[in-house]
Amino acid sequence: MAQKVAKSKGKTSNVGDTPMGPTGRPYHGFPTPAPLGSHGPARIIALCNQKGGVGKTTTSINLAAALAEYGRKVLAVDFDPQGALSAGLGIQTHDVPTIYDLLLDTKRDVHEVIVPSGVEGLDVLPANIDLSAAEVHLVNEVARETILARVLRQVAGEYDVILIDCQPSLGLLTVNALTASHGVLIPLECEFFALRGVALLIETIEKVRDRLNPGITLDGLLATMYDSRTLHSREVLERVVETFGEDVLETVIGRTVKFPDASVSGVPITEFAPEHAAAQAYLRLARELVARGAVA
Ligand SMILES: Nc1ncnc2c1ncn2[C@@H]1O[C@H](COP(=O)(O)OP(=O)(O)OP(=O)(O)O)[C@@H](O)[C@H]1O
Ligand SMILES: [Mg+2]
Repeated sequence: MAQKVAKSKGKTSNVGDTPMGPTGRPYHGFPTPAPLGSHGPARIIALCNQKGGVGKTTTSINLAAALAEYGRKVLAVDFDPQGALSAGLGIQTHDVPTIYDLLLDTKRDVHEVIVPSGVEGLDVLPANIDLSAAEVHLVNEVARETILARVLRQVAGEYDVILIDCQPSLGLLTVNALTASHGVLIPLECEFFALRGVALLIETIEKVRDRLNPGITLDGLLATMYDSRTLHSREVLERVVETFGEDVLETVIGRTVKFPDASVSGVPITEFAPEHAAAQAYLRLARELVARGAVA
């Protein structure tokens, strides 16, 4: 009951000593992850939602940077021909080898394509518009759904986490990402129609689990672009929590213009505005995923 009241007012109120978070559950800070003695093998997580503009790329960039800040070795894979993840980390993708070249020749050394980002501990597998031809090229390949898995296998031992930023579609590239992954993170924008399409996405994940990748788990749904001042945002979040319960991560990403600003600057929010609530939110997301065991 207390939770209901807190939620409908959209404020944080207290239950005992623990403040209430926007998902209507107690707001935990989550402990700072312990340093790792050695690195790898990586847990691979796909950031996936066929709906466009829900925060997949923003989350890939900033979660990757936050995990790197906690001493994790992270590889961010740009798996969208728009190349937004590469651009958002300041990586030039014109006339350089990209993930596309690796998909066409899985024997090619992945190290030739990986580039360091400006963030210590965070590397990138860049993409550019070439990747838009991949689906056509791969459609006649043998084991066409497992090509990315075979590429990433080469370097999984060197990283603690590999994040794959998917394009907004459920096509062959996304199926490759799901087949290569141990877990899926679904960003959802706190807007009308946030839940539209999520059932189909979950169905796709289940098909991949049945046919290609029996171990894949849903690591969580992440509410993004939340604005506590609007009733609408609060209602959408309430609905998401009603539908998905504990699968909704406690961390909620607020709406702020700092994200587009940081992307234009080509750096993650944790470097662009480290003290800002938005940077703190992604650091908290990193801690929550470690606490849930989704990341080492
Ligand atoms: N929390 C936020 N607050 C405000 N703006 C945001 C937030 N998160 C992302 N954005 C902005 O919203 C737009 C879409 O975000 P993003 O590119 O991360 O979504 P996406 O799901 O990767 O999109 P696409 O499906 O096109 O790949 C971008 O301009 C981004 O800067
Ligand atoms: Mg994107």
